[in-house]
Amino acid sequence: MKNNNTKSKHRVHKSGTKKIFNKYELYLDAVQSPDTDVEFFRKVHQELRKKDPRIFREDFCGTFAMCAEWVKLHPKNISYGLDLDPEPLAYGRAHHLSPLTEQQKKRVHPMEQNVMKANVPAADIIAAMNFSYFIFHSRELLKKYFTDVLKGLSSKGLFLVDVFGGSACYDENEEKTKYRKFSYFWHQHGFDPVTAKAKFSIHFQLKDQRKIEDVFTYDWRMWTIPEIREIMEEVGFKKTHVYWEGTNKKGGGNGVFTRTEKGEECEAWVAYVVGEK
Ligand SMILES: C[S@@+](CC[C@H](N)C(=O)[O-])C[C@H]1O[C@@H](n2cnc3c(N)ncnc32)[C@H](O)[C@@H]1O
Repeated sequence: MKNNNTKSKHRVHKSGTKKIFNKYELYLDAVQSPDTDVEFFRKVHQELRKKDPRIFREDFCGTFAMCAEWVKLHPKNISYGLDLDPEPLAYGRAHHLSPLTEQQKKRVHPMEQNVMKANVPAADIIAAMNFSYFIFHSRELLKKYFTDVLKGLSSKGLFLVDVFGGSACYDENEEKTKYRKFSYFWHQHGFDPVTAKAKFSIHFQLKDQRKIEDVFTYDWRMWTIPEIREIMEEVGFKKTHVYWEGTNKKGGGNGVFTRTEKGEECEAWVAYVVGEK
């Protein structure tokens, strides 16, 4: 998560009062669902491996919210979070570790490490969420990352990534979502069909405050599901699977992802690709 603001807390001045603008808290509320994510990972492992996973590695972990949720699922669960940036790791220690019990805290290991040079025990599950691996713009780099992940998995380990697409992802657009205390904006700055690259940013606006732009910015290559599967298989994953979201009565996503070999044309979709070691 590249961010253009050097400090995680901004003070927003209005009528002489100061309000704390905390980008990681807003990001968690707007973008993340770490509790449901880890349950989904466990479900996928149970389905494909017929047993419970114990060791979880969260790549590009930021504030390692999923690592903190992972250890709540079982008293033997252990998690490792890897991120290059000390700032979100420090936020995570203050906000996601502190509410845990002493026993749980001992099983969470946030590490300031490059995912390309990971030095942690083999994991049953490695997850790279919120499209973080889209920072790898070339096939060569993505291949190198997937190769390192394969090495970092236990013998029957699984690798999970999320991916998004749909016709709306090829247009410049800004989507606003209102929450109780703030609004979240997902801004896509066009798409280059020659390189398949696109820039995105997240803006926030606290209630009755001015909008704060480019709190997080992303420069991504828009990888497709078949490319991801092909690269996983090229580097040695034995099988790959796609989990696609079901539809609710209004035609939107219902939050339930199941294995499929056939997708559905949608304006915007999110799916998971899973690689089996
Ligand atoms: C989009 S944020 C993802 C945060 C979180 N995983 C989530 O699900 O929302 C991407 C994170 O990747 C980190 N990052 C970028 N390159 C990295 C690398 N090579 N190794 C480890 N972390 C990296 C950034 O510091 C940033 O915190």
